[in-house]
Amino acid sequence: MGQFITFEGPEGSGKTTVIHKVYEKLNKEYNVIITREPGGIKISEAIRKLLLDSDDDMDERTEALLFAAARRQHLVEKIIPQLEDGGIVLCDRFVDSSLSYQGYAREIGVKEVQAINEFAIENLYPDLTLYFDVPAEIGLNRIKDNQRNANRLDKEKIEFHHKVTDGYKKLISEYPDRIKVIDATQSLEKVIEDAYFAIVNHLNQV
Ligand SMILES: Nc1ncnc2c1ncn2[C@@H]1O[C@H](COP(=O)(O)OP(=O)(O)OP(=O)(O)O)[C@@H](O)[C@H]1O
Ligand SMILES: [Mg+2]
Repeated sequence: MGQFITFEGPEGSGKTTVIHKVYEKLNKEYNVIITREPGGIKISEAIRKLLLDSDDDMDERTEALLFAAARRQHLVEKIIPQLEDGGIVLCDRFVDSSLSYQGYAREIGVKEVQAINEFAIENLYPDLTLYFDVPAEIGLNRIKDNQRNANRLDKEKIEFHHKVTDGYKKLISEYPDRIKVIDATQSLEKVIEDAYFAIVNHLNQV
C-alpha cells in the first residue's frame, strides 16, 4: 500500500496553495497524485456543487451524509487504486473536515458524524495529516484580501469558524501521531518548506 496524506485546516489557511507546491516538488521523485474534497471525480464533483454553491437551506444531517457519500465515491474510484499501486495521495481535506465542521461546529456530534464516515471509509484513515494552523480571522482575511468568491461555508459567522478550529484542536489531541501541526501564520515559502519536510520525513520513516 502507498501513503495517504491529507491537508486540513480552516478556510484560507493555505491548504490549496501549499498542496500544489508540495506536489510539484514530490512529483520529481515519487509516484504521487493530487486530489481534493469534496470532489476529485465526476460524481463527487457534482455533490460538491450541491454542497457549496446552493443558496437553499440544507438540513445539517443531509449535508453530513452528502459529504460522506462524496468521500466514499472519491475514495473507491481514485484514492484506493493509487494506494494499491503503491503511490502517494495528497488530498485537500478529508474526514477530519467533516468531524470538525459538521460534527463539532454544526453540533451534530463528532461521534455521530464519525459513525457515518466510518461506514463510508471503512477505516481508511490517512497515514499522515498536516494541519495548517492559523487563527480563523487571519484565514478569512486572506480570502477576503484575495477576493476569491466566497462560498456558502465561508459566509458563516465568525463564531462558527472558531468552533471549527476548536474542533480541529480536539482532533489533534486525539490523534497526535497522525496529525502534524504546521504553523501556517508564517510566510508562504516557510509554510511550503515545513509541509514538504513533514511529508518527506514521514515517507522516510515508513
Ligand atoms: N502563509 C501565507 N501567507 C500569506 N498568504 C497566504 C499564505 N498561505 C496562503 N496564502 C494566501 O491565502 C489565500 C487562501 O489560501 P488557500 O486558498 O490556499 O487556502 P485554503 O486553506 O485552501 O482555503 P479553503 O479552505 O477556503 O479552500 C490565497 O490567496 C493564498 O495565496
Ligand atoms: Mg482550498
